[in-house]
Amino acid sequence: MEQTQEQQVVSMPRIGEPAPEFKAVTTQGDINFPSDYKGSWVILFSHPADFTPVCTSEFMTFATMEKQFAQANCKLVGLSVDGLYSHIAWLRTIKDKIEYRGMKDVEVKFPLIEDITMNVAKKYGMIQPGESNTKAVRAVFFVDPKGIIRAIIYYPLSLGRNFDELYRALIAMKTADEFGVATPADWRAGDDVIISPAGSCNAAKDRMDGKDSNIDECKDWFFCTKKLDKDKVLKAVIKG
Ligand code: BEZ
Repeated sequence: MEQTQEQQVVSMPRIGEPAPEFKAVTTQGDINFPSDYKGSWVILFSHPADFTPVCTSEFMTFATMEKQFAQANCKLVGLSVDGLYSHIAWLRTIKDKIEYRGMKDVEVKFPLIEDITMNVAKKYGMIQPGESNTKAVRAVFFVDPKGIIRAIIYYPLSLGRNFDELYRALIAMKTADEFGVATPADWRAGDDVIISPAGSCNAAKDRMDGKDSNIDECKDWFFCTKKLDKDKVLKAVIKG
């Protein structure tokens, strides 16, 4: 009996939990996820279908930025519910025929998972029946070097992703880990960072009295920042 939309259980991985494990066939050979990627950040992302225009623009953009992500110790892994030969044909077409926004002759060197069975897509909540039963939405999972999911972003079928934002998010998370800080709205390397809120009345008073040497400025006791030099950030989170 066919299930209604409400009856279909969509399993959704959660931030802070281990990335669900899977083995898959890809355009770069078989992979074991996430164990093959231990020690690296990974962006695992899904797209609705091969040979579609938004996805093509996204793959060209991501492939063009692959080196930039690699320098930040981050590997890319794509997925759609198409088969391997469709993936291969699409990537060949992109390289041989498509020119878009100054990008041409673009070779996609990162693995693209074939997932006709939807095994992986279902595990990662990429099939969202309200949007489509047969296509993965545009999901993005940031997985850290220990295999823990650190951020998740979902987009609908019609909305192409902003890859500068994915890169910004990666650098911000690595900076937060490295320096024990948080990053404010629209933060970029070189901007002031946020110090975690004062945990006691005395700490709050010290901050407002200018007695906490770790802090450069407080808007109020709960909103304090410090300077973090751009070069120091880049040295810490990007390979030379
Ligand atoms: C696209 O990638 O162009 C696309 C895919 C599915 C639905 C709408 C657009």
